[in-house]
Amino acid sequence: MVTSQGSNLKELLAKDEQFLSSALYRVFHIVTEKGEGPYLYTTEGVKYLDLTSGIGVTQLGHCHPEVVKAAQEQLSQLIHISCVTHHPGNIKLAEKIADILPGDLDNTFFCNSGAEAVDGSIKLSRYVNPGRPNIVAFRGSFHGRTLGSTALSSSKSLHRINYDPLLAGINFVDFPNCWKCPVFKDPSSCELECMDLLTRMFKLNLPPESISAIIIEPIVGEGGYVPSPNHRFNYLKELRKICDEYNILLIFDEVQSGIGRTGKWFACEHYGVVPDVITIAKGIANGLPMGAFSTRKKLMSLMPPASHGSTFGGNPVSCAAAQKTLEIIQRDRLLDYVFKTGSELMKHFQSELEKKVKVRGYGLMIGLEFTDKEKVEKVIDLCFKEKMLLLSAGTEQKVIRFIPPLNIEKNILFDAADKIINIIKKT
Ligand SMILES: Cc1ncc(COP(=O)(O)O)c(C=O)c1O
Repeated sequence: MVTSQGSNLKELLAKDEQFLSSALYRVFHIVTEKGEGPYLYTTEGVKYLDLTSGIGVTQLGHCHPEVVKAAQEQLSQLIHISCVTHHPGNIKLAEKIADILPGDLDNTFFCNSGAEAVDGSIKLSRYVNPGRPNIVAFRGSFHGRTLGSTALSSSKSLHRINYDPLLAGINFVDFPNCWKCPVFKDPSSCELECMDLLTRMFKLNLPPESISAIIIEPIVGEGGYVPSPNHRFNYLKELRKICDEYNILLIFDEVQSGIGRTGKWFACEHYGVVPDVITIAKGIANGLPMGAFSTRKKLMSLMPPASHGSTFGGNPVSCAAAQKTLEIIQRDRLLDYVFKTGSELMKHFQSELEKKVKVRGYGLMIGLEFTDKEKVEKVIDLCFKEKMLLLSAGTEQKVIRFIPPLNIEKNILFDAADKIINIIKKT
């Protein structure tokens, strides 16, 4: 376990233990009170380079001045209105989101988090496909902590202990992981045999006519930063065909991979596949709470007024922050920067660490897979001592994930990468 020293710190951590739920795990036992760009500052004034972006949230770095200003201006104008009236902030934002969504997706429901976005998308699937009680989700994926999204998640069984009965009708199939093929094929010569896992299930025990939705992360996040196949075969394209054939709603959970993280607005654009629903959260408001699920108006309209709701969802302050965040990503051409810089960084990691790790990802959603969990813990601990914060991922915690802010300066990024490379070489 990573720890830090200091008297004030000890007092704060003791109170933390006394008054805060122990169910919420904290990775680093330091207390941060200020954030600026890619840096965090502790109560003792120690500066850390945050390569976690608060788990893929602060796309523009901590407290981006323009986002702060937009939120502050909104704070003095109108903080809360809920569904009591309409307000311009979420109308404008929904229009902006329609502009960046892939294909013909154009209609959005706002909530407060990724898990709520996922739950909402499942409710939508019940309206689109009434009388179809089943859902397919992928083993190794993570969709959140509400009871609904927990039922869809399978990145760690710890997340599910004691919570049964969860949402019924969830059927898991192995994620098409080319780094650990579920059907033991070599990705350079396979014929996408992993797709048989799904089609066999259709034949043996799960009639496709009973399925309302299939939910998948185009790039698995918590489960280990694993992109779905996109080399000789495009798994998502095949999934799209299956969903079209059987009128199954295809949901892409882009809570972690969306909003520019991979060098496109949404990761599914790398695959040229448009889902029926996209879930959004994390990076959209650069740290203010916001979630959303987006679909086509024709589908969303199947949910009658008041069939779903949220007191705080789409609140004016989060909307103002999100509007500014999206504007800046566009204005500063960050998508191109992220894709180019991320590709260079992955090449750099690969050439320096060829035998030590497997490197994968898109843009600045990069995973380094090690041979064992202990190495990952050691590297993260040594990086922490060098004042860099990194997180692990993966069902076996064998992956270090690299999720810096999208606008991180190249020299800061590559200096950090070189320090990490040296640490890994010595470990
Ligand atoms: C792909 C994915 N979906 C959903 C969630 C849940 O989001 P939240 O923690 O905002 O509820 C996460 C969180 O890590 C995620 O990575």
